[in-house]
Amino acid sequence: MHALALALLATGVSLLLGPVLGAVTWNATPFNPAAVPLAVRTPYLSVWLPQGTGTALNDQWAAFWNGDVAAWTGYVKVDGQTYTWMGAANLDNTTKATQKSLEFTSTQSIFTLTAGPIDLTATFLSPVEPSDLVNQSLPFSYLGVSVKSNDGNSHSVQVYTDITGEWITGVTTWTANWKTTTGKVLTHQLQLSTQALYEEVRDHIQYGSGYYSTLNTKGTTWQTGQDTVVREQFIGNGSLANTADNYFRPISYSWPVFGFSHDLGTVTSAATEPVVFVVGHVRDPAIQYVTKNNGRQERSILFWTKFKTVSSAISTFTNDYSNALARANAFDARVKADASKISSDYADVVALSVRQALGSIEITVSKKSGEYNKDDVLTFMKEISSDGNVNTVDVIFPAWPVFLYTNPALGKQLLAPLFEYQATGQYPNRWAVHDMGSSYPKAIGHNDGQDEAMQVEESGNMLIMTLSLAQKANDTTLIKKYYNLLDQWTQYLIEDSLIPALQLSTDDFAGRLANQTNLAIKGIVGIKAMSKIADIVGDHAKAKNYSDIATSYAQQWQILALSSDKTHLTLAYGNDSSWGLAYNLYADKLLNTSVFPQSVFDLRKYPSFQGLYLEFDTRLFTETKWYANHALAYGVPLDTRHTYTKSDWEIWTAGVVTSTSVRDVLVSSVRKYAADGKSSQPLGDWYETVDGSVKGFRARPVAGGHLALLVI
Ligand SMILES: *[C@@H]1O[C@H](CO)[C@@H](O)[C@H](O)[C@H]1NC(C)=O
Ligand SMILES: *[C@@H]1O[C@H](CO)[C@@H](O)[C@H](O)[C@H]1NC(C)=O
Ligand SMILES: *[C@@H]1O[C@H](CO)[C@@H](O)[C@H](O)[C@H]1NC(C)=O
Ligand SMILES: *[C@@H]1O[C@H](CO)[C@@H](O)[C@H](O)[C@H]1NC(C)=O
Ligand SMILES: *[C@@H]1O[C@H](CO)[C@@H](O)[C@H](O)[C@H]1NC(C)=O
Ligand SMILES: *[C@@H]1O[C@H](CO)[C@@H](O)[C@H](O)[C@H]1NC(C)=O
Ligand SMILES: *[C@@H]1O[C@H](CO)[C@@H](O)[C@H](O)[C@H]1NC(C)=O
Ligand SMILES: *[C@@H]1O[C@H](CO)[C@@H](O)[C@H](O)[C@H]1NC(C)=O
Repeated sequence: MHALALALLATGVSLLLGPVLGAVTWNATPFNPAAVPLAVRTPYLSVWLPQGTGTALNDQWAAFWNGDVAAWTGYVKVDGQTYTWMGAANLDNTTKATQKSLEFTSTQSIFTLTAGPIDLTATFLSPVEPSDLVNQSLPFSYLGVSVKSNDGNSHSVQVYTDITGEWITGVTTWTANWKTTTGKVLTHQLQLSTQALYEEVRDHIQYGSGYYSTLNTKGTTWQTGQDTVVREQFIGNGSLANTADNYFRPISYSWPVFGFSHDLGTVTSAATEPVVFVVGHVRDPAIQYVTKNNGRQERSILFWTKFKTVSSAISTFTNDYSNALARANAFDARVKADASKISSDYADVVALSVRQALGSIEITVSKKSGEYNKDDVLTFMKEISSDGNVNTVDVIFPAWPVFLYTNPALGKQLLAPLFEYQATGQYPNRWAVHDMGSSYPKAIGHNDGQDEAMQVEESGNMLIMTLSLAQKANDTTLIKKYYNLLDQWTQYLIEDSLIPALQLSTDDFAGRLANQTNLAIKGIVGIKAMSKIADIVGDHAKAKNYSDIATSYAQQWQILALSSDKTHLTLAYGNDSSWGLAYNLYADKLLNTSVFPQSVFDLRKYPSFQGLYLEFDTRLFTETKWYANHALAYGVPLDTRHTYTKSDWEIWTAGVVTSTSVRDVLVSSVRKYAADGKSSQPLGDWYETVDGSVKGFRARPVAGGHLALLVI
């Protein structure tokens, strides 16, 4: 197995397999994304099909978000002939099924393949359950497989799937052990023989267990053992031997696989009830969390409050498939209807973003006297792919719209650890901390104050998100509990946001810059947000003072930020040849704070938009069309320092502009990039506007920011 991957390893080439080239022969609805989400629910259950210009489900191995193979194999035997429908295990006596279609929605990726005289539908459902946080917290994902005859005749059909140990580690030379439990549900459980609490290697967690389960219905068999042995057993016989290979060994040594087979009997042109496979990864405790006096608390995933064992959680989850699918269909329909009010391109971008965003978080609970304390629910986010920080404030901030849209309680639970920690007084700086810990899942704070410094950025972000929560969820508990902390950050902003010092903004890859126009916007909106917060607690004198300061700053800012010919906003004060996306104006809209006058939102003040604007206003100079069509092929650059941009900030800016046609160009350029086949990685938010190639980052939670237009 993995001959291709091993050959690449041997030659020192990374496992980030390029797309398998070839003409796309299937219908893709709405398009073929760079990577198709297959099982995307947590930072450690994040498996995708690398897609590129067009890779069928059975062209290539599935992969963890970082590109490491996570082999998932599917065969179907039809009247004695075996077809491969998932993965790349094309053994003797197998034929490749032909992919006919791929469709993705907010929660599902649905493939249909023709295997001789039958059609097979594989539905990968990663539930998004915003109205039930216990359900949302379950670290499992579904694969439902249904078949039907396509030639009018009846056929004898058996379906097979397996996973490998690659699902539990990034180091395949490490030894695993496993066991299979039988009963109403069959479950393979596999784990590393040497467990390392809270430790990651290559972004995989190195403790806990992987699970692969299916209902033990009539005609269901299982087997563990070497890849070729188990797969050839199915190919030869259409069923497995119900036997375990208990020679525990390294994952890549005679590759042990964990297989199931279902005999579907005689299949007609009516689609069969789906056979359901459930894949997951569970660890406990899940998060290490800093408490006062630099204490450490162990936190568990919220589902433990409802289920005493993993097997009861798996059993309920597995049996709930048809209801979960109905809930998912309703959720998908709601998202699609809301997003389609903007445009169908927007609905496409949103559909690709939801699983990615929610797949970065884990909802946890602590224990009190041995019992789970349901009053203490905190949510943690991994800054996937950029640096693995925990609850990074300027990553929660761009992702914020997905939480406002799905369930603001998740936003509150993400902010709460940051407030709790800073209220202990252990963080020594007077501005807001950047994150809760350098490496997930260790939320151990930064008592040395040496977190990545983004002083104005994070202080403004905390104030803006906290007020937004109060407005959207009518929940003022954070405001009341942490009023002093919010005030402390505001006082910092009063000192340092009108004339921001040489600082990083969230776009740290662009480097530090003094007097950033866009960063000043954030600080000023932050001060205004605190004035509204002061009003909420009845501190009206403070509210008036801060409102006056914000208004005065906004007036001064306009003079500082406008180019000397008053035609556009600069990137940095005083540099007339600079400009950038002023995406922080979105916060002023989101909060309805109206700090900045409407004239600031006028497109004609942004040279960056003029090409686009003229493109859509044929009364104006058409020669600039060239610029719109070429230089800005995939949207507006982030600023004048580079030609790259950020997909989240394109969409935020789309929420700010006053022209519908420019809004649509911004949205459509992100859609064009997402569909352009130039990468085989989970959607990366940082990309080149010139040619639509990925600049960096992938699978990051900030895709949640693509929902920005749904919450204003
Ligand atoms: C392939 O099928 C032939 C004919 O049934 C059989 O002899 C052979 O052993 C099979 N090979 C494998 C690898 O299953
Ligand atoms: C949560 O999942 C359970 C099955 O575990 C299901 O019965 C219930 O309806 C779900 N709750 C909601 C609100 O969707
Ligand atoms: C093949 O499967 C049948 C049941 O379907 C079983 O009786 C037989 O022993 C199996 N043969 C092998 C070689 O496992
Ligand atoms: C908001 O919450 C307050 C206090 O909990 C309550 O009195 C008020 O009716 C709520 N408003 C809305 C619009 O739900
Ligand atoms: C920032 O802007 C202020 C106001 O225009 C100016 O006095 C100051 O020199 C600028 N700082 C830098 C580093 O350019
Ligand atoms: C307004 O707030 C600033 C910053 O906290 C403070 O220095 C100033 O004294 C306040 N002014 C009034 C009138 O309270
Ligand atoms: C926004 O604020 C203005 C006052 O500045 C108010 O008239 C308007 O109703 C607010 N809109 C919303 C949606 O709250
Ligand atoms: C002004 O901005 C441009 C474009 O970003 C940059 O190339 C130039 O170095 C900047 N000038 C100064 C003095 O910072």
